[in-house]
Amino acid sequence: MDTNLFEENPFLHEVARRLLKAREQGQLLLQNGDSGFASAPSNIALLKYWGKKNGLRQIPVNSSLSLSLGNFRSVTCVSVRGRFFPLKNGHPDNAGARPEFTVSLNGREEVMPAKMEKFLRNILSIYAPDIALHVLSQNNFPTACGVASSASGYAALAGAVADLLNLERFLDDTELALWISEWSRLGSGSATRSSVMPNKSTKISSSVSRFVAWELCENADSRAETLPLSRTFECVAHSKFQKLRHCLLVLDSSPKATGSSEGHELAQTSVLQSLRLAQYPRRYTSMLGALGSGDFGKVAETSETDAFEMHAVMATGAVPLQYMTSLTSAALKTFIEERNRSSAEMFWTLDAGPNPHFLFDAEAASVLAGVFAKLGRDDRFKNARVLLPCREVPQELIVGLGPLEKLGFRIDSMTSEPMLENCDLLTASQILCR
Ligand code: DP6
Repeated sequence: MDTNLFEENPFLHEVARRLLKAREQGQLLLQNGDSGFASAPSNIALLKYWGKKNGLRQIPVNSSLSLSLGNFRSVTCVSVRGRFFPLKNGHPDNAGARPEFTVSLNGREEVMPAKMEKFLRNILSIYAPDIALHVLSQNNFPTACGVASSASGYAALAGAVADLLNLERFLDDTELALWISEWSRLGSGSATRSSVMPNKSTKISSSVSRFVAWELCENADSRAETLPLSRTFECVAHSKFQKLRHCLLVLDSSPKATGSSEGHELAQTSVLQSLRLAQYPRRYTSMLGALGSGDFGKVAETSETDAFEMHAVMATGAVPLQYMTSLTSAALKTFIEERNRSSAEMFWTLDAGPNPHFLFDAEAASVLAGVFAKLGRDDRFKNARVLLPCREVPQELIVGLGPLEKLGFRIDSMTSEPMLENCDLLTASQILCR
């Protein structure tokens, strides 16, 4: 049994043990056709997770903080294909068999990526080793556009498995939230920031911006003596930030040569990483404070500095990673010039790719429109696209079928109503000026 993804996590072991017991008692019976659904937002980090602690699974070297991107969503359905046999003497009847896992990603049947298969087998290996699963997952945003599909994808996958197993019967609300968050983290670090479930009292249709922190606990260096080593929670944000808007400038949508997981490993080889980390506790606290007090300027400045520093670390590792292109620099130059000229409340950030994210207050929309109009007249940007949210959607992880339908997703085909406008720069500037 391969349990190495969660060997250092007593909580997940305890839940797995509880589920095994439930199965032995006949309370966890899954049959052909049973399914679970979830939908999760992607997120964009304002303080970046870059680097993992050596020797620990998916524990970051620094706390990070993100804005949830409710319009950029993954919808995932997991369904049982084949029978789930009662255990005999604690073992499945067909213990030797390795039932098939299949996947359809964005409408195409594909070989399940090894990372996803390992993830699912780890979740299910103790209490459902004999289950055959089909995963149907769809993003409503283009691949490789600069929005992390692993964040929304793994959060939705963990949520869909929780729904399939009907975990609410075995876990209380806090445990369920922790189970989903921990499994999301083990799937992909940034996914844990997409996995924050709404409070039962929260209105599901709320479109208020959500900020999520993934905080490194003080005991993170003491290994597994006291847990957890990290935790995820929703940050208190001043009303100033509750309608923070977001859009994405897509300059290059080719797949990136070096993925984030490799980049995290290289981070420690940069001489700049230790300088970056030395500032982190102060930077993180100051960001939480600025978000809570409505200090837009501080949030903007901290976020831009942080993105720049991450890219400096990337560029100075043993294998230098250069995600920014000359177009990225040209776009950011124009953005910064226009912003500084007008004092508009807007800022940029950049993940491991060339496509900048712009965050802005509604009142800054016309200045941003001016930036797009200016870039749109520059021939170098003739292929650039802007992804703009076109309707308000919930920002949080949604587990189960009912709310998905409320979201406008057609469950039968897993397609969604458009939540994004995909337009050229001049059209984007017109939309923003409306
Ligand atoms: C630059 O979460 O994709 O987007 O944990 O290896 O799956 P893994 O990495 P991933 O890293 C995200 C890096 C980032 C910054 C961030 O989202 O905080």
